[in-house]
Amino acid sequence: MTRLSVNINKVALLRNARGSNVPNLIQVASDCESFGAEGITVHPRPDQRHVRYDDIPLLREVVTTEFNIEGNPDPDFLKLVLDNPPHQCTLVPDSPDQLTSDHGWDTLKNGDRLQEITAALHEKGIRVSVFIDPIPAMIEGAKKAGVDRIELYTGPFAHQFSQNPNAAMADYVEAAKKANDIQLGINAGHDLNLENLRYFRENCPGLLEVSIGHALIADALYFGLSNTIKMYLNLLRTP
Ligand code: PXP
Repeated sequence: MTRLSVNINKVALLRNARGSNVPNLIQVASDCESFGAEGITVHPRPDQRHVRYDDIPLLREVVTTEFNIEGNPDPDFLKLVLDNPPHQCTLVPDSPDQLTSDHGWDTLKNGDRLQEITAALHEKGIRVSVFIDPIPAMIEGAKKAGVDRIELYTGPFAHQFSQNPNAAMADYVEAAKKANDIQLGINAGHDLNLENLRYFRENCPGLLEVSIGHALIADALYFGLSNTIKMYLNLLRTP
């Protein structure tokens, strides 16, 4: 079964635009869960333009499904995660000024660092996932670093999907086989939406979790949050 984790960063962005507490991020997280979300993802960045560091303890208290904190493991991020242990931490190699994550780790070049960070997170009982491009050598590097899961960066898949779904999926199919062979769990995320999600899920063997933010929150403007979450869940459940 593939679980749906809703990334609520865009809800925080809307709240931050006015400096008030509308919409109330903590309430939205809780409501996403009651509408069926099986996890809540946040991506605190150093400029705190999305979810803020002071949101994290409050979210950790209310989230009853899976709490996933993703981000670049700089010292502030790591302290935040270790002080407020989520169920899962997804390590992402994005730079502070990056608009959004657009590439995975070089797990070979960064192997020692990832191993050290993973060990520290494991000590707190946190499952570790690394954001990664669908490249077999990078998956092997992730395994060597001792992580539990990989999160496949699906941006390139999403961009090619409308022209040629089969070609768009090819590298991901191989990557999933590799990860399954060496017993790494598979998550996926970025630019997944109502058009491409079912195809990705059906063709990625062993897909455990998707985290979806931008498209889902945009769809909620038209369909409402409750309907939208059910529409995404439906794509993950039906054959
Ligand atoms: N995974 C990672 C590592 C991300 O940085 C993001 C965006 O914050 C997502 C998944 C979700 O991508 P999207 O907002 O396009 O659904």
